[in-house]
Amino acid sequence: MNKIINILKEKKSIPLDQFINISLYSKKFGYYMTKNPFGKGGDFITAPLVSNLFGEMLAVWCVAFWEHLEKPKKILLVELGPGDGTLCKDLLKTFKQFKNFYDSLEINLLEISDKLKKIQKTKINNGKVKWIKNIKEINYGPVIFIGNEFFDALPIKQIYKKKRLFFERHVSLSNDNKKIIFLHKKANNNLIKRIQSLNLISTGNTIEYPIGAIKFLETIAKQINKFGGGLLTFDYGYNVKKNQSTLQSIKKHKYINILSMPHHSDITSHLNFKLFYKILKKNNLDVKKITTQNEFLKKIGILERAYILSKKMTFKEKANMFYRLKRLLDYREMGNIFKVLFAQKKGKKFSLGF
Ligand SMILES: C[S@@+](CC[C@H](N)C(=O)[O-])C[C@H]1O[C@@H](n2cnc3c(N)ncnc32)[C@H](O)[C@@H]1O
Repeated sequence: MNKIINILKEKKSIPLDQFINISLYSKKFGYYMTKNPFGKGGDFITAPLVSNLFGEMLAVWCVAFWEHLEKPKKILLVELGPGDGTLCKDLLKTFKQFKNFYDSLEINLLEISDKLKKIQKTKINNGKVKWIKNIKEINYGPVIFIGNEFFDALPIKQIYKKKRLFFERHVSLSNDNKKIIFLHKKANNNLIKRIQSLNLISTGNTIEYPIGAIKFLETIAKQINKFGGGLLTFDYGYNVKKNQSTLQSIKKHKYINILSMPHHSDITSHLNFKLFYKILKKNNLDVKKITTQNEFLKKIGILERAYILSKKMTFKEKANMFYRLKRLLDYREMGNIFKVLFAQKKGKKFSLGF
């Protein structure tokens, strides 16, 4: 908290995206740089931690995509933001059952946090796995990019529209320097032009501009165009036109005010999947119709797999597995709010899960 207060004292105000970036990713104090926020004892739970069937289904999907690509001798899997490493660990476990795929496989993990990298390294001890700092380092393919809750953890800008004027949301200090507050400043012309060119202005008066995610999407698209492959991502999000604030902050599994605990709580936003779709298309990729986590996992066969596993389980084990499955699939839990996007190099027509 002091770190951000000092910055605000010095700078008077900073745009929302900078505030998110400092809160989550500043080297010494950032939330993800100093904490392990995952799991029951942490602040939130993600799909790989809910059930290992999530990773198993993603592994099956990757193998099927590799087969569709005509089983290239080398295939690179890049996980974006691997968190505590659970997904990668579960993927590897299933991949080992597909020998030819496994022999062709290398994995790169893109992780900003040294703290999380250490945790990942304790879970994943496999010569196939390397950590990278930048997607631009990738120099062969085909590449399968996968991410779970990666894009929704990246900084966004918010622009407030009043009649014909545009204001950017900034973060500042109250007069007594004690409280962190929001304020609006006139948006600069470049920013207005950018949101106009992305056609983000429609209904509602708060426009979210996912500046961090867009940069990643453009680099990822370039790499896919160059080396072949695709991007499969799961994130909180919506697929309708709406302009409203979707920022949220979570601490100990409860929503809190996003300004109340910088560096100590998670800050995310819901993704505008219509915008993601448009950007990836503009970057020459073939993008499937956005689907939900529920539909995607069911199409891969998660229920059938669970029934097979359940035959050898005790009643208690079965109850536990189906309880977790319900969390992943139920429309009131993760099944609907999590959307799935798949973009691939033009000319390929892989559609499993969609
Ligand atoms: C919400 S967590 C998701 C974790 C994991 N995928 C899961 O499902 O449990 C976001 C992850 O992305 C990482 N991350 C965020 N921004 C990043 C960036 N610019 N480069 C690399 N990793 C980043 C975080 O450190 C964290 O590991």
